[in-house]
Amino acid sequence: MDNQAVFEEVKRLVASKPGAESLLAAVVNLLHRERPHFHWVGIYKLQGEELVLGPYVGKPTQHTRIPLHQGICGAAASAGQTIVVDDVNRDPRYLACSLETRSEIVVPLRQGAQVWGEIDIDSDQPAAFTAQDRELLESVAELVGSEL
Ligand code: SME
Repeated sequence: MDNQAVFEEVKRLVASKPGAESLLAAVVNLLHRERPHFHWVGIYKLQGEELVLGPYVGKPTQHTRIPLHQGICGAAASAGQTIVVDDVNRDPRYLACSLETRSEIVVPLRQGAQVWGEIDIDSDQPAAFTAQDRELLESVAELVGSEL
């Protein structure tokens, strides 16, 4: 599916009003299925000063709760901005989940100006995330973020 088709599918999922957890799980599954270089796809939700792992696809991670001041996940949520890391081993903020991971993108989920969570994606390929991937993920995050 091209980006447009993936986005249309997310719109259909949102319109079917499945409930928050099912919608997030369906979006995570869709992204993982449609983009083979997205090896781990998950949602973190902000609870107080911590990001708490929600639905995900990929290997289980020890990082089920991440304080806002830690990790690439914490940095993206604190700044309210997408972070793309082409080589996780060169980023001192990086919290390792899997030894195979080489690159990562984190896209905040917002309701208005308020960050309530994020989409976190790891790839086993270095510099895996293209400008088109970022564009798709930011549109999906904008739609899903404002719906929940
Ligand atoms: N790598 C993330 C931690 C979450 S795992 O990728 C699933 C980080 O540095 O915040």
